[in-house]
Amino acid sequence: MKGGKCRETNAARASVRQITDPEEKQRIADSILKALPEWFEVPETRDEYIRCSREWLFFTAFAESRPIGFLCLKETGRETVELAVMGVLKEYHRHGIGKALFQAAKEASRLQGYEFMQVKTVRMGCYDDYDDTNRFYLALGFKELEVFPDFWNAENPCQVYVLSLKDRESIPDLISRRRSYRGKYKPDRVPREHLTAILQAGLDAPSGCNKQTTSLIAVDDPAVLEKLHAAIDPPVGTTAPAMICVLTQRINAYRDRCFAVQDYSAAIENMLLAITALGYQSCWYEGHITDTDRIGDRLAAVLGVPEGYELVCILPVGIAETEPAAPAKKPFEERAWFNGFPQR
Ligand SMILES: Cc1cc2nc3c(=O)[nH]c(=O)nc-3n(C[C@H](O)[C@H](O)[C@H](O)COP(=O)(O)O)c2cc1C
Repeated sequence: MKGGKCRETNAARASVRQITDPEEKQRIADSILKALPEWFEVPETRDEYIRCSREWLFFTAFAESRPIGFLCLKETGRETVELAVMGVLKEYHRHGIGKALFQAAKEASRLQGYEFMQVKTVRMGCYDDYDDTNRFYLALGFKELEVFPDFWNAENPCQVYVLSLKDRESIPDLISRRRSYRGKYKPDRVPREHLTAILQAGLDAPSGCNKQTTSLIAVDDPAVLEKLHAAIDPPVGTTAPAMICVLTQRINAYRDRCFAVQDYSAAIENMLLAITALGYQSCWYEGHITDTDRIGDRLAAVLGVPEGYELVCILPVGIAETEPAAPAKKPFEERAWFNGFPQR
């Protein structure tokens, strides 16, 4: 957002990055695992994880620049990786950090051609903390493979879970994987059939009284993109090879009821999901272009948009060069309830 009009609190921001430097991996693993004695109480096992983490694929969640969680993957077969160890600082539990780490790791393993991810934990029903861990893996889509009662020892029966990385992604998983991406894009062009599919997803959105007040312009001509970017100050999405411009007609659906905002919001979310499903990234830039400097109007002029239409949002589209940041969201229980507002 420009001008600090709509900022998230710093505490709520977290981003996931892959770490490649062995020293940094070990430092992060050390600081987090030692802060989680309930899960990593045996020093030899914990230190072994810390040592081995140097060699593993390593993903870290940061709040500002502070590491607050990490996840490691190790190859256990030509087509299989194991979620070898993960830890999130206790004060950040139930903020979606583990899930964000998992999504980044899953995406990276899929891109590297792995077909399965396995994970081991103490079987459900032994300890409360580990029961939470079991529920976490099940919610991520892991399936029970086998229990090995003596793999560790009789008090800690080993549950092996497995997840297919080739399965078609479910809609809820796609929705939770979508992120606002504000980093650099790779130069690869977005094929017209993909842009068409994304636009169609926007047009397929519901609209109040089916008034279909939203129209869309996809731009993939570098010369037109250059003219658009010349009007966007401060610049955003400059490296994206395509941009979708969202137009609205603020007409009433009935009486004095205008649903134009709801209509284009539904269209934008549909397009963001289609963009994510096709392997691209984007960000909903509306605040940035509808501020008092009216960037949207200048973009509309470049595109020859006639009167009666307002350009309200731009969506850069392209392949991300870096991992998208995953802002932490408030816990489920703070924003969603069953059968009534909680009485305090
Ligand atoms: C109506 C609306 C306007 C937005 N405008 C901007 C914007 O101008 N600039 C920006 O960087 N992000 C913008 N965003 C993206 C939000 O900042 C982002 O959705 C939010 O921080 C949550 O992150 P997530 O999308 O990764 O879940 C906008 C989102 C919405 C819904």
